[in-house]
Amino acid sequence: MSKINAAITAVGGYVPEYRLTNKELESMVDTNDEWIRTRTGIEERRILKGEGLGTSDMAAEAAKEVCAKRGISPHEIECVICATVTPDMVFPATANIVSDKAGFINAFSYDIGAACSGFLYALSTGAAFIESGRYKKVIVIGADKMSSIIDYSDRATCIIFGDGAGAVLLEPTIEDAGIKDSILKSDGSGRQYLHQKAGGSVKPASVETVLAKEHYVYQEGQAVFKFAVKGMADVSYELMQRNNLTADDIAWLVPHQANLRIIDATANRMSLPKEKVMINIHKFGNTTAGTIPLCLWEWESQLKKGDNIILSAFGGGFTWGAIWVKWAY
Ligand code: UT7
Repeated sequence: MSKINAAITAVGGYVPEYRLTNKELESMVDTNDEWIRTRTGIEERRILKGEGLGTSDMAAEAAKEVCAKRGISPHEIECVICATVTPDMVFPATANIVSDKAGFINAFSYDIGAACSGFLYALSTGAAFIESGRYKKVIVIGADKMSSIIDYSDRATCIIFGDGAGAVLLEPTIEDAGIKDSILKSDGSGRQYLHQKAGGSVKPASVETVLAKEHYVYQEGQAVFKFAVKGMADVSYELMQRNNLTADDIAWLVPHQANLRIIDATANRMSLPKEKVMINIHKFGNTTAGTIPLCLWEWESQLKKGDNIILSAFGGGFTWGAIWVKWAY
């Protein structure tokens, strides 16, 4: 019997309309457009405005687009995995809420928390469900409403993050296509540099935690930067080496969009020219789990069947990894 591969067969995405520009940030904190552009590559980011709207609303739009593009009924979806660090609520899982909003009434659904690497972890898990032969239609989502956990008086973090969601459909194929290989890593000792101090079981929400601003992202940027540059470049290179892929073999690098300097370092390590690197950080900033599927969504029309694509990420945890995908359509 032929091996079952897990192919990406459709991509969806959603970014909110509101554009938070560097100019507007200048009126909020002590920063400036030039610093943000040169240190991060970001020009603007999207912000989800509106009472009662959360991560699931963006994720549901992206997931519905996937079904519409593929021409399938939401009832055919068997499993939904949502990677996020900004769930609508602590429980139930945002994926459960997405399934309700998008009409995935026959799917089981759950969230994965692996910060900026969340989409890679979720894609790898979803692919394993397909490869096992047990499921035929799995939706994998990366979605974050980062504006819900950002302190807009903290210039070290508020200039970086934005809101957005992307989704892909995974289906079986016996062709040489789909998720070919993955390397996923984590090191929990890195949590000291990037975390949210309160709101979990160690430090539940209280008046004190709110007053101390402990429900926002805490990041020691320089430390994270150093680990990210090394981690993302190393793992991407390792994936190429162990699959005998040269830079010529690779059509696209799809890097997590945290900082243009980290993206450049990864591309350099892989000897890839800029034209092969998907970059939309200038428009959307860092949407955490959303960055990689949002790139695939934006570049979808340029992708060709058989293209070798490397997805690569580094984020809170620490978590990091890279996945080799052979494009299936
Ligand atoms: O996606 C999840 C993983 N996260 C990441 O990968 C983020 C990794 N880290 C980074 O991208 C960068 O560290 C940042 C963009 C967060 C910061 O850039 P940096 O080049 O590491 O800046 P820094 O923190 O070393 O600060 C350099 C200077 C400091 O001033 P002095 O001490 O040199 O006078 C800061 O106070 O820039 C100052 N600064 C700012 N100036 C204007 C810090 N933030 C700002 C700001 N605007 N927003």
